[in-house]
Amino acid sequence: MNNKEMKSAQRQAEDLAEALRAVGADQAEFALVLGSGLGGFADRLEDAVAIPYAQIPGMPQSAVPGHAGRLVLGNLGGRRVLVQQGRVHFYEGWSAYEVTRAVRAFGMVGIRGLLLTNAAGGVRHDWDPGTLMRITDHINLQGVSPLFAGEGGLENPYDPQLGAILDSVAASEGLPLRTGVYVGNPGPAYETPAEVEMARRLGGDAVGMSTVLEATAGQAAGMSVCAISCITNFAAGITGEALSHEEVMETGAAVAARFEALLAAAVPKLCDS
Ligand code: HPA
Repeated sequence: MNNKEMKSAQRQAEDLAEALRAVGADQAEFALVLGSGLGGFADRLEDAVAIPYAQIPGMPQSAVPGHAGRLVLGNLGGRRVLVQQGRVHFYEGWSAYEVTRAVRAFGMVGIRGLLLTNAAGGVRHDWDPGTLMRITDHINLQGVSPLFAGEGGLENPYDPQLGAILDSVAASEGLPLRTGVYVGNPGPAYETPAEVEMARRLGGDAVGMSTVLEATAGQAAGMSVCAISCITNFAAGITGEALSHEEVMETGAAVAARFEALLAAAVPKLCDS
């Protein structure tokens, strides 16, 4: 990435921030990015306004099934939140800057907190599909960074204070929430069994194709970041069963109620922190 491309990426994020202000996104205290099959949470917002990405100049748009492609602004427990229902991925051919342009813009309009969610493959034999995992740290194997020259970024983009709130809300709601390390792979193919074994030996608990760039950029843009993976399937080679996008979507649908209940209870508390 040369300097000129970096400057232009920065400007594009600023332009998107301007477009987001125009639709009132700057009133939101907190932003959520909903992953594959997890978009239903947006229906829980009150007094909601949904804006298709196509109507937001500069908002990258995904073609992946299960990603609705709209921003929803609404209230949850009396707090104004912004939900990004569907994201773009590195494997679709978007650059690290494009993948993170929206998250950058959220920070630029003054949103203070960010919760990223995703569907992921489970690397552990003892975590059944449907397990929810709070991401404590990640390993970025996508081979790119969303940071601009001169930007530090913390060693670990996931905020321990937000993490503790998620853990405590999960416990008080009786919703099991594991913790673990997310390995972000480039995709678009699912991992080979050998790659999953590598992820496991590196200390990974889940594998996926999103989140790592957004977490890094979100933190750099001034937001406190937390993230939850929905383990939708055993990763390749863990059970010998074949993987499919359908299974990912089906498990997402099966855990949706639990997942949404956790988010609904947690978001107002995350806003308070
Ligand atoms: N690997 C990568 N990404 C995924 C998976 C997986 O097994 N399941 C859902 N997203």
